[in-house]
Amino acid sequence: MIKVNTVSLPPPECRPEVASTEEKFEFLVNLLILKIELFLRSSIDKGINDISPGLVQGPVPIGAAVANLDNATRKMIEEFGLASIGHLRAIINTTLLKAPIPRPLLDISPQAYNIFLTLILNDTKKSNPSYNPYANTNSFLFAAVFASSFLNQYYAGIMPSIVGNDERWLLSRIAGYEGGVLGALRAELNARVNLTVPPFNFTVGKLTNLTAQLANQLAGCGVKDEGLIVPLQLGAENRTRSNVVPGDVNSLAFVRFAREILRIVFTTGNATRPGGLFPRGLNGRLYRRIDTQKLS
Ligand SMILES: *[C@@H]1O[C@H](CO)[C@@H](O)[C@H](O)[C@H]1NC(C)=O
Ligand SMILES: *[C@@H]1O[C@H](CO)[C@@H](O)[C@H](O)[C@H]1NC(C)=O
Ligand SMILES: *[C@@H]1O[C@H](CO)[C@@H](O)[C@H](O)[C@H]1NC(C)=O
Ligand SMILES: *[C@@H]1O[C@H](CO)[C@@H](O)[C@H](O)[C@H]1NC(C)=O
Ligand SMILES: *[C@@H]1O[C@H](CO)[C@@H](O)[C@H](O)[C@H]1NC(C)=O
Ligand SMILES: *[C@@H]1O[C@H](CO)[C@@H](O)[C@H](O)[C@H]1NC(C)=O
Ligand SMILES: *[C@@H]1O[C@H](CO)[C@@H](O)[C@H](O)[C@H]1NC(C)=O
Repeated sequence: MIKVNTVSLPPPECRPEVASTEEKFEFLVNLLILKIELFLRSSIDKGINDISPGLVQGPVPIGAAVANLDNATRKMIEEFGLASIGHLRAIINTTLLKAPIPRPLLDISPQAYNIFLTLILNDTKKSNPSYNPYANTNSFLFAAVFASSFLNQYYAGIMPSIVGNDERWLLSRIAGYEGGVLGALRAELNARVNLTVPPFNFTVGKLTNLTAQLANQLAGCGVKDEGLIVPLQLGAENRTRSNVVPGDVNSLAFVRFAREILRIVFTTGNATRPGGLFPRGLNGRLYRRIDTQKLS
């Protein structure tokens, strides 16, 4: 007997793209490079090539800054940034990708991140103060969780279709590590759930809920990002409102595919209209195919 899967297929714009294992790795290194550059430049004012010369090649990220972090958070962000350099090196060692990996143009300026806040607050008149991820620990943790969250979602999405024992083994070990990173960062946010996010007067808890709602809206494929305090029906076993680690109805990790992630990181809700954190789009064949085939 086999169990028949009665779950209906998601709509086409929410399904995975057909791509080779190498193309999936090409796509994911864009997201990994974003995470490393954000974490290392904000914590210790260094980029990937300062730590491991020759690993990447391409334009220097726009708008990076050292963040005003408390010491414990700075140590943690530095650690997680350095760890992902190891992941990048292991990918180059195991897959057909070669160093230097092309680095996409990244915009990690306060202005780019503020686009999200403007959308969240529906603030076309610019009546609110602007969001600067580097201004304080509470603000920075949002940018950090965001970068780790869609890496996790992409890993979970491609893992089943990765061809090659070495490649699958590698990805499962990277994903295991990154799940730890996401949990640690969300726990940091949760410890601050009732504090405000200066200069705004709403709490960390409220902002996690609003950022999750915006990500879900931009991606257009249902609820896959969740706040820290949720209605019971989004909590584990429908029995708790606490939601440090997001998960589906059985608390399984959420999955997002390439186009969903592009719609979010571009801030445009359109996988073929670059903007936001990747003003010129991503590198690699999967992204170029999405672009030329207009798979928005
Ligand atoms: C944070 O680290 C800096 C530099 O290492 C040190 O001077 C400072 O005293 C530390 N602050 C706290 C609160 O530990
Ligand atoms: C590269 O991969 C080989 C085989 O999997 C492994 O023995 C070696 O330690 C790896 N080197 C680095 C630098 O990760
Ligand atoms: C946040 O506030 C809620 C409601 O007042 C309270 O139950 C909860 O324990 C607080 N959490 C933290 C981490 O302070
Ligand atoms: C702060 O919050 C209160 C109540 O939630 C609201 O009425 C007020 O307009 C807010 N102030 C600013 C500057 O956002
Ligand atoms: C945000 O909070 C509202 C009100 O509690 C809830 O209805 C909604 O499901 C939450 N959204 C997310 C993504 O957590
Ligand atoms: C939780 O509620 C959802 C509907 O909101 C339902 O589909 C699911 O089966 C419930 N889970 C449990 C464990 O009761
Ligand atoms: C997405 O953006 C492209 C390029 O700007 C545009 O041609 C297309 O119509 C957009 N698709 C949707 C669904 O808005």
